[in-house]
Amino acid sequence: NMERAQQALARLVVDVSDFPQKGIVFKDITPLLADADGLAAVVSALADAGRDGGEVVVDKVVGMESRGFILGAPVAVELGTGFVPVRKAGKLPRATHTVAYDLEYGDATLEIHQDAVAPGERVLLIDDVLATGGTLAATRQLVEACGGDVVAVAMLMELTFLPGRGAVGNLPFTVLMTV
Ligand code: PRP
Ligand code: MG
Repeated sequence: NMERAQQALARLVVDVSDFPQKGIVFKDITPLLADADGLAAVVSALADAGRDGGEVVVDKVVGMESRGFILGAPVAVELGTGFVPVRKAGKLPRATHTVAYDLEYGDATLEIHQDAVAPGERVLLIDDVLATGGTLAATRQLVEACGGDVVAVAMLMELTFLPGRGAVGNLPFTVLMTV
């Protein structure tokens, strides 16, 4: 699983210079998503983060808007769990928990429906990239505000020149490619 996914990432993620700002090299995952075998490979590898000895050990998959939705929903289907979206401000219609945080470029607010994760539920977090870790730290806070327990994190890529690892702490962290 892991090796096939890593090969797909190496082949299909495209570097785009100076996007969205000058000096930033953007990692474009859309060619990977558009490739049937590549998409299946990375979804399977991410889903393995929710298993222990072949057994599913999470109750919910939480994905962060927007790219965490694309990957998180199929991971949830593969694991046989529900999927919970963490959304940018103002998108969720019912009572939310809210956390404001800094992003690699700019700042943002994330929200979760208060009843989306039940107290004691075990959560797998899915996103595409770990950069500063701001999105991950905010999402952990949101799940914990619901009473949920983040037990694992899985992402496609880690930008190791940024301090995102600090937001992971001691959690089991699956990452398929480091930059
Ligand atoms: C990007 C990326 C991660 C986050 C990582 O999302 O998809 O979610 O930044 O950065 P961090 O570790 O510094 O928080 P972004 O909010 O740019 O937008 P998108 O997913 O909606 O494209
Ligand atoms: Mg994102």
